[in-house]
Amino acid sequence: MRWIRAAGRGLLIAAVVLTGYVSAGTGAGTDSAGAAQGDGRGPMTLATAGDLTGYLGPLLEGWNRSHPDEKVTLVELPDSADETRAQLTTGLRSGDGRYDILNMDVAWTSEFAAAGWIAPLEAGRFPLGSFLPPVLDTATYDGELYAVPYVTNAGMLYYRKDVLDRAGETPPRTWAELERQARTLAPRHGLGGYAGQFLPYEGLTVNATEAVYSAGGTILGDDGRVTVDSPAARTGLGFLARGVRDGWIPREALTYKEEESRQAFQDGRLLFLRNWPYAYAGASGKDSRVAGKFGAVPLPGPDGPGTSVLGGSNLAVSARARHPESASDLIAYLTSAPVQRKVLTEGALPPVRADLYQDPGLIRRFPYLPALRASVLSAAPRPKSARYEQVSLAVQAVVHDAMAQHQNPGEAVRRLSRELAAVARRG
Ligand code: GLC
Repeated sequence: MRWIRAAGRGLLIAAVVLTGYVSAGTGAGTDSAGAAQGDGRGPMTLATAGDLTGYLGPLLEGWNRSHPDEKVTLVELPDSADETRAQLTTGLRSGDGRYDILNMDVAWTSEFAAAGWIAPLEAGRFPLGSFLPPVLDTATYDGELYAVPYVTNAGMLYYRKDVLDRAGETPPRTWAELERQARTLAPRHGLGGYAGQFLPYEGLTVNATEAVYSAGGTILGDDGRVTVDSPAARTGLGFLARGVRDGWIPREALTYKEEESRQAFQDGRLLFLRNWPYAYAGASGKDSRVAGKFGAVPLPGPDGPGTSVLGGSNLAVSARARHPESASDLIAYLTSAPVQRKVLTEGALPPVRADLYQDPGLIRRFPYLPALRASVLSAAPRPKSARYEQVSLAVQAVVHDAMAQHQNPGEAVRRLSRELAAVARRG
């Protein structure tokens, strides 16, 4: 979706040039350290990971037109969750108040709240009751609301409908079916079998966690105990490692993040792809070779439907926000019904408001909405941990070794269990 993104970047640069960069401590209503003073109203910055469909800049322009004294400047950080996190936390650790509102990955809430980087919010100011139920849990820490759900996400299995139809096959509902079709049909059509996001970064944590959850396992218990050493986790990692060993996961997929894997699918190089719903728009676009030839279904698991990890992002107010009142109002605006509709229609991202998933007009335009709703409702959150980054780094490193055939799945699971226990001890 780079074509939309390029246009979005132009707008972003224009916004920054027009409004000027507002750094901490220089705006009205702040003290020299950048903490809020006065009525908490004034200009603000919103930091986000790469806006892959380039919709957010124009959307914020709508707010800016009607709030000339509370304008928001968009700061777009890199596409990958890890790089964005690194840039945000470097600033937050040094007490830099550059970003007032953070569009943060749902996986980070506990860590950012525990570190005191984001401020608790007044629940009554936001339309929490209209959200899909599982998303709210990702925004709380220690029973308090620290963020407001904004975009949700669940993994889906994209498949080449033309290829399956020709072979008289239906999309796989189990790993065994996926494996069989990837092994037999894909080579006949010169396609790679299956890919997801397998480079060591947050995306691999997601893919591996989905494999473990789908097989009935867990990584950490609710009490933070390490629970990964189980036959289910071995089955989950075994599925991914076997794919590479037997060639139905192409080796190249070990370097894929979301965008590389989307490109491979829409260039017509893969039979199956695990990706988020945003990939649907790109694969249906003018420069896609598979437009009109693919479908998307919920992820399969070992013996039936699999379990997706709950993805998405929440909006939080930095503990050092210069204008927290304006920040809360902007968040209420971004989670309002008309803006949430645009998140879907212009951003190709899954909104958090439940009613949009049952709107017949939207279902006609976005036929994957019912499958996505089912996936989000049954999705499971990543482990909640104040040391989430270390948990995720351990998962990525070990799973990548298993997929690269450096360690068998049994050894990999035992090593992961030891490494996670060491992370817990450091806490
Ligand atoms: C998507 C998800 C996010 C996840 C990331 C992993 O952006 O919304 O929750 O952490 O992908 O790459």
